Amino acid sequence: MIQSIDSFSSRLIRWQRQYGRHDLPWQNTRDAYRIWLSEIMLQQTQVATVIPYYRRFLERFADVTALAAAPVEAVLESWAGLGYYARARNLHRCAQQVVVDHGGQFPGDPRLLAELPGIGRSTAAAICVFAHGVRAAILDGNVKRVVARCFGIEGFPGTGKTEKEMWALVDSLLPDSEVEIYTQGLMDLGATVCTRGNPACAACPLHDICVANRNGRQAELPSARPTKILSEREAPVMLLTDGHSVLLERRPPTGIWGGLLALPEVVPESAEAFVNAHACRLLQTSELPPMRHTFSHFRLTIQPLLCRVEKTGRSTGEPGWQWVAIGEIDSVALPAPIRRLLLQLC
Ligand code: ADE
Repeated sequence: MIQSIDSFSSRLIRWQRQYGRHDLPWQNTRDAYRIWLSEIMLQQTQVATVIPYYRRFLERFADVTALAAAPVEAVLESWAGLGYYARARNLHRCAQQVVVDHGGQFPGDPRLLAELPGIGRSTAAAICVFAHGVRAAILDGNVKRVVARCFGIEGFPGTGKTEKEMWALVDSLLPDSEVEIYTQGLMDLGATVCTRGNPACAACPLHDICVANRNGRQAELPSARPTKILSEREAPVMLLTDGHSVLLERRPPTGIWGGLLALPEVVPESAEAFVNAHACRLLQTSELPPMRHTFSHFRLTIQPLLCRVEKTGRSTGEPGWQWVAIGEIDSVALPAPIRRLLLQLC
């Protein structure tokens, strides 16, 4: 173990120089705004998906001051399609706090940075490493996989005990210098070599010190999440359309899908009254296949009722309600299952 700890960082640094990624749009800069934005986008989304969003976002919000001054709806709109919209709301709140509480400068101390919305310990460390060259350890999902395998750490990495053990380990693995290359190397190895399924162990610089590789336990490490029995919920929703656009409702700012546009929750018995209240006449209804979506604490079955309607008057323009053209579904911030449902309609 001690010998492995000694050679871990030097192997990784050498490997990163030769095989790692060097030209991602957020590399080769010390601009904390750009680095912070990339790390938030990359929290739950892969590099290839993030790149076009990242570029467009920077064209629209060039710096932290511009982002802080924008309405949150504009930020959500730029995030549309990336999913996990809590990230966008926290991003906006974080920008405002950086401007108001830190004079527009991101703190260079990971502990201060981790107090800001949306920035956990690992993201704070990554930002400080890349923006300021600070010596701090990261521990995201990819890194958990690399260290669980390399050092044979048992236990689901989401539990407090295992996570604590992993933090102590990654702290002890940090090299004294070249922390930027080392950190990027860890990220790159986890994303391109030490993948969840089918890892490319023959190409791994750690293959001869890796416990999982030596014992053929790549599929067992990291340990899987213990199965949790989730409660079930059902949501009858109404998909109101005149063939050109669909009626969407802005969800309240808190709770699931806070602030996003979504299909209105209406029981089928109230369909006609609902349609009339929105200045439409009901032509035809049909049930669409249910869609399942798993949240951390429950499973939701969405039961959509398609209502074909004719508009009989002008929309009242009530706040919170919006007719969105079917061709523009892609550019609004929608929950993933609702987006999937609507795109099937196009
Ligand atoms: N995943 C998280 N942060 C990353 C980064 N800076 N580069 C590539 N992948 C990442």
